[in-house]
Amino acid sequence: MNPLRVSKFKVLPVIVAMCLAAPFAIAEPVTVESPGKVLRVSFEIKDGAPTYSVSRKGETVIDSSKMGFKLKSGESLDGGFQIATSKTDSVDETWTQPWGEEKTIRDHHNQLRIDLEGTGDSKKKMTITFRVFDGGIGFRYEIPEQGDSKTIEIIDERTEFAFPADHRCWWIPAFESNRYEYRYTDSPLSKATVVHTPVTFETKSKLYISIHEAALTDFSSMALRRTNGTTFESDLYPWSDGIKTRGPLPMKSPWRTIQINDTPGGLIENYLILNLNEPNKLGDVSWIKPGKYVGIWWEMHLGVATWHSGDKHGATTENTKRYIDFAAKHGFDGVLVEGWNIGWDDDWMNGEGAFSFTKPYPDYDLDGLAKYAKEKGVSLIGHHETGGGVENYDKQLDEAYALCKKLGIKAVKSGYVGFGQGLNRTHADGKMQKEWHHGQWMVEHYRRVVEAAAKYHVMLDVHEPIKPTGIRRTYPNMMTREGANGQEYNAWGGEKSNLPDHTTILPFTRMLAGPMDFTPGIFDLLFEKEQPDNRVRTTIAKQLALYVVLYSPLNMAADLPKNYEAKPKPFQFIKDVVTDWETTKVLNGQIGDYITTARKDRNSDQWFIGSITDENARTLEADLSFLDKDRKYIAQIYRDGDDADWDKNPYSIVIEEKQVDASTKLTLNLGPGGGAAIRIKPAS
Ligand code: NOJ
Ligand code: CA
Repeated sequence: MNPLRVSKFKVLPVIVAMCLAAPFAIAEPVTVESPGKVLRVSFEIKDGAPTYSVSRKGETVIDSSKMGFKLKSGESLDGGFQIATSKTDSVDETWTQPWGEEKTIRDHHNQLRIDLEGTGDSKKKMTITFRVFDGGIGFRYEIPEQGDSKTIEIIDERTEFAFPADHRCWWIPAFESNRYEYRYTDSPLSKATVVHTPVTFETKSKLYISIHEAALTDFSSMALRRTNGTTFESDLYPWSDGIKTRGPLPMKSPWRTIQINDTPGGLIENYLILNLNEPNKLGDVSWIKPGKYVGIWWEMHLGVATWHSGDKHGATTENTKRYIDFAAKHGFDGVLVEGWNIGWDDDWMNGEGAFSFTKPYPDYDLDGLAKYAKEKGVSLIGHHETGGGVENYDKQLDEAYALCKKLGIKAVKSGYVGFGQGLNRTHADGKMQKEWHHGQWMVEHYRRVVEAAAKYHVMLDVHEPIKPTGIRRTYPNMMTREGANGQEYNAWGGEKSNLPDHTTILPFTRMLAGPMDFTPGIFDLLFEKEQPDNRVRTTIAKQLALYVVLYSPLNMAADLPKNYEAKPKPFQFIKDVVTDWETTKVLNGQIGDYITTARKDRNSDQWFIGSITDENARTLEADLSFLDKDRKYIAQIYRDGDDADWDKNPYSIVIEEKQVDASTKLTLNLGPGGGAAIRIKPAS
């Protein structure tokens, strides 16, 4: 992308700064500051190795850190370099998200592009580009053809992130069997070994730092391994043969991103990762519509229905009609049906791929139901669980998505249940290899699916996904995904089920990368009949608040219809809340403790607020100064009752109305594991 490109939606002029091609030796370090002079990046060659460091208002955030790659053959790209040229540019433009948590996004950064060349007779070359925003930085490598070499095999990425101290850190482990589905550990970073990104840090001076990557394309995903003391190094997920990333040259790495802010909420109100992605490639995306859905889903997780055929089969024509009727009556856009297709009867998790993505079970009238749904103004949501049978899915992609288009199925939820390095890939010699979910092979697979779905105008909700890296900007049909412990862990119980602080960590970690299909809205929190030993560890008001706090453009009302019918008053909030936002403001928050988020509806003058706490009761303030001045509003408040407590009294809820305006400061009393959900609408 030309960094000086002016978007159609430009409201601010593009400023071209200097363009500096250096014929002589370049003075080092080469530095670049963010537009507001908040962040500064220094680049320097030390003993031939490229290095960078980052500071914020004079405070070191990243100490001198090495960069580059080790290659399987040819000269490695982590030493023996000198700077050939360097060049700076500035960009200030705005662009519009077709849907999102923020409609208009400003991309305001200074760029430093450094061309490196090998010293002496070496023919090697590499370019490193830094983009420096006030809220964080991104950098990427570009590797052109190396002498006569037109392909490359990377055996190690050497990008370091050297922290000057042993910061507090919220992390989940990488290279484990359960992909990204872990509870977060809150520890000094020296207790972490190898972690997934986004990983978030808090310094003693109260800076908040999150490391991730943007625009992960044709590359392996990056984990971070602590190499010594307080330094992490990029650890790419390998192919089964040990190569970390391979491909033709020229090759571009994803952007390595470091968000830096002086409040935790500032990390959320920052769109660096989206800004580092390419603009929409799909052209007209008017067919893409955020919305809410219900589905034949929770009953399987509670064990009262099955995905497989038999007496308890959930995906029957009759049951699906009930859900369609329920969705139509209460204004939901979609009905997800899991277990509709042939393939669930054997050991579907074995990765062999017996699933058909076009053939329904005999007790599921796919054509008839699609028609029935359409008549009721609802759309079926398809389900493509691969069970880790990736090649089987690849083979069926085109016909599966063509069928969706034919039947008016506007969204598909996919799934890749299968553990760790357990995905079967047929090697050229016919032998089966085991690949990681997060290696390059799968990054490329997940992208093929996005493209196949886009071709047939289908939106995606991916479970067991590759982590989000902002590609929703380029492919706006890539709506939402899992990639963290979701609500389902509460049904399953055991030591992996979520503690009350889990959803106060997600917004500051995993969700900095993009939307999550957490599936909120459980009203029967104890499910005593179905799973008496398990439970949801929140109050009912907190379940409502999650609709605002945990952003997802496709958002589920996850509980059984009968549990909503039993509690019509709190259910009204789920019916009212929207899924597409004009703007998002984090009113307060501390990672792992609490968060209050306000969002304005993109299609009306309504605002919604969600406030949640961990296991501690708290009193928080919601300052409503973001409302239009001189306008009166009604706030419909769904709050914890005075005696509410996730453990002892989770159903205690008070629903009340108050007149509010821009001068109001609402006091929110949240019980232990509690929350508050608020709809604010103009009084007239
Ligand atoms: C795991 C997903 O997270 C869940 O939502 C789904 O129901 C099951 N896999 C079966 O596909
Ligand atoms: Ca899952």
